[in-house]
Amino acid sequence: MKVLVIGSGGREHALVWKLRQSHRVTKIYCAPGNGGIADEAECLAADIKSLDSLISVALQVQPDLTVIGPELPLTLGVVDEFARRGWPVFGPTKAAARLESSKSFAKTFMQRHRIPTPRYAICNSLDEVRAALPHFHTPIVVKADGLAAGKGVVIARNKEEAASVASEMLSGKMLGESGERVVLEEYLQGDELSFLVFSDGERVAPLVAAQDYKRFGDGDTGPNTGGMGAYSTRNIIDDKMRDWLIAHIARPVVTGMKAEGVEYRGVLYCGLMMTARGPMVLEFNCRFGDPETQPMLMRLESDLVEALEASVEGRVSEGDFRWSPDASVCVVMASGGYPGTFEAGKRIMGLEHATQIEGVKVFHAGTNKREGTYYTSGGRVLGVTARAADLQTAVKRVYEAASAIGFEGAHYRRDIGGRPLKQGIA
Ligand code: AMP
Ligand code: GLY
Repeated sequence: MKVLVIGSGGREHALVWKLRQSHRVTKIYCAPGNGGIADEAECLAADIKSLDSLISVALQVQPDLTVIGPELPLTLGVVDEFARRGWPVFGPTKAAARLESSKSFAKTFMQRHRIPTPRYAICNSLDEVRAALPHFHTPIVVKADGLAAGKGVVIARNKEEAASVASEMLSGKMLGESGERVVLEEYLQGDELSFLVFSDGERVAPLVAAQDYKRFGDGDTGPNTGGMGAYSTRNIIDDKMRDWLIAHIARPVVTGMKAEGVEYRGVLYCGLMMTARGPMVLEFNCRFGDPETQPMLMRLESDLVEALEASVEGRVSEGDFRWSPDASVCVVMASGGYPGTFEAGKRIMGLEHATQIEGVKVFHAGTNKREGTYYTSGGRVLGVTARAADLQTAVKRVYEAASAIGFEGAHYRRDIGGRPLKQGIA
């Protein structure tokens, strides 16, 4: 069968890499792809902001299955368009993707269905913000309602700062339309966890959990980013916690959406904070995580195509996935200046050496390839990923690989996977 993957990041490289291992897949296309994906799939030019562009790619290659990586095409309704034409596609419809595209929708939905989430206020004007602020302790989390590519959340230290951030968001200056409504939220402390399930609109099947490192610098310092690394181990959560998360979060989301007339198919990403009061939902994403997908798929031993098809065809079950007990860890190498402005076009060296290290796979994100040489082309450049029987060995391998790779201005965190090791829970 022919599979089309939409997107161009490390997540899409991991999807392509895993799909290639399926004996059922004869050809993989990726639109638009990147320098590393081009070695494993046929890349086609496409504009992911344009449904017409994606439809024309699909008309050209006639895939038996399409997998959507990023949120933007999902929130524009690519699944609705493909499904209307009878083309098999993995992912939620535009209406279902509102769980990610509108934080106010997600918050009121969680309240309606008693899904644990921090206390909040939805504000459409600065007056509403000022009226809500006295009801919160500091720090206060200020979130833009719409999509903001990881830049829509500010943790304000005091109420003046919260009002000023909310005012900038509401004016449209900071994030355009995405910030025209804001959500104020109670600040929570704890470990974050990315818990993903596949759904067919009715049933859910959990994937292995992962932890993402969102902050730019070691020790969780500096600005928030799309994610600087992630790891996954067999005991990141135990079976009891997994069952609790399914019963109290993932399944209520899918049945709640159904009760509201919307079928949720595809992958549901629950971004959780594990607090002393129990797990709470910080956000939903209607897609795979990036970089969590890289270490998660490194641990997947069963056929990804089968699981994707089970969701599309309405027959999801826990048996769709078989996982390795191994640990895996991904370290993101970013361009100098990221998450702010950065220069591109830097030559990447050392990839060959890195990929020879046992258990290592280097997923490409912002790269392109010219005459056999790879160059940087984005903020997050590579997701160096390693798998091993234990986290300590995976961490050692991943850093050996990362240190073998170089490009001008490269930055990566040195502490990915270090926290569970320090806490002795790996
Ligand atoms: P979100 O896009 O809503 O997941 O927020 C991005 C990041 O901001 C999260 O991964 C957390 O690191 C942080 N964050 C969001 N909401 C909260 C909250 N209520 N309390 C503490 N940190 C938060
Ligand atoms: N790594 C966080 C995300 O994919 O949203």
